[in-house]
Amino acid sequence: MIADKLNRPLRDLRISVTDRCNLRCRYCMPPDVFGNDYPFLAREELLDFDEIVRLSRVFAGLGVRKLRVTGGEPLLRPNLPELIARLHEIPGIEDVALTTNGILVPKYADALREAGLKRITISLDSLEDARFGQMNGRGISVRAVLDGIEAAARAGLKVKINTVVQKGVNEDDILPMARHFRGTGHTVRFIEFMDVGNSNGWKLDQVISKREIFERIHAEMPLEPVAPLEFGEVAKRFRYIGSEEEIGIISSVTEAFCSTCTRARLSANGQFYTCLFAGSGHDLRDFMRTGGDSLTEADLAARISEIWNARGDRYSEERMEGTQAARNKIEMSYIGG
Ligand code: GTP
Ligand code: 5AD
Ligand code: SF4
Ligand code: SF4
Repeated sequence: MIADKLNRPLRDLRISVTDRCNLRCRYCMPPDVFGNDYPFLAREELLDFDEIVRLSRVFAGLGVRKLRVTGGEPLLRPNLPELIARLHEIPGIEDVALTTNGILVPKYADALREAGLKRITISLDSLEDARFGQMNGRGISVRAVLDGIEAAARAGLKVKINTVVQKGVNEDDILPMARHFRGTGHTVRFIEFMDVGNSNGWKLDQVISKREIFERIHAEMPLEPVAPLEFGEVAKRFRYIGSEEEIGIISSVTEAFCSTCTRARLSANGQFYTCLFAGSGHDLRDFMRTGGDSLTEADLAARISEIWNARGDRYSEERMEGTQAARNKIEMSYIGG
């Protein structure tokens, strides 16, 4: 097992398989920035499945136990279930999860389940069609995502729902979302709006805090905290008193969780990022491609360890301390949530 400068182990790897998406959520890929002429990665720039599996195997050897496949929208990547199946076979990997906007889930849910996937996280920011259509930048209906959620559940996948909360945009959805999913067995996680990337125009006053989200729900449906199951759990969990039903709140802004951050990220073109807010990554793709047949997995492990050992990232904590310098950040659709 390896550790970084703040003594944090490497336990999770988030793998982006494409930087493209069929939605244009305004906080992530605003339509005026990500237009028809946006320079998305070309096919040959992407890691192929062999490369992703090889790197994942090396990461597993260094302590990674959990893989999350993200994007962009990961289901836009052709043959994704094949990759999911191969990731499940890697020794040491205990958990493989997928984060998606849900639109393509009805098409792939059964294939994903057959590939060994057990759980899925689907993003849904509103239950109001007009608001959701505006937020997702493509006029996509709420029904399209609910169909994805239902298809996933029908296929036997455990479902979590991610809802990013933005003041003045969808704060009125907090209670309806909680009410709607209570009793379904799906856990809703409300996420504080973050300053990822350079294009979403983030301001601190657009954040609805964890405390405020909690209070709004608690006032109508009393909640009690649930102890974390694992080290470094991102969402604070709460249960409706008197039931086993849970919600989560992800307080990336008001209560940063960098001190227990065990997450590494791999972009679709094979850049290794040690933080969601990193200004730049470390190229593993060209390292692998130029190394050719003589490059061993031990060589790759040595390179990854060297990068992780030097890691001192704690961006979200610095943001709240006001100590972080302005920087050019990577877009979330590229690096994966
Ligand atoms: P589970 O394994 O299902 O518990 O997932 P998770 O807690 O890792 O949550 P998920 O991967 O769905 O992440 C939810 C959201 O939390 C992301 O979309 C981000 O908005 C935020 N998040 C996750 N990891 C980080 C991180 O390392 N830093 C920051 N700042 N936010 C993060
Ligand atoms: N702040 C918080 N969450 C975000 N996501 C995308 N952009 C942001 C942001 N600026 C969420 C998506 C998805 C997950 C991958 O990350 O809604 O649920
Ligand atoms: Fe696509 Fe997800 Fe970004 Fe929305 S948040 S644009 S669904 S990658
Ligand atoms: Fe980890 Fe960076 Fe997020 Fe902090 S800001 S929790 S170091 S990814």
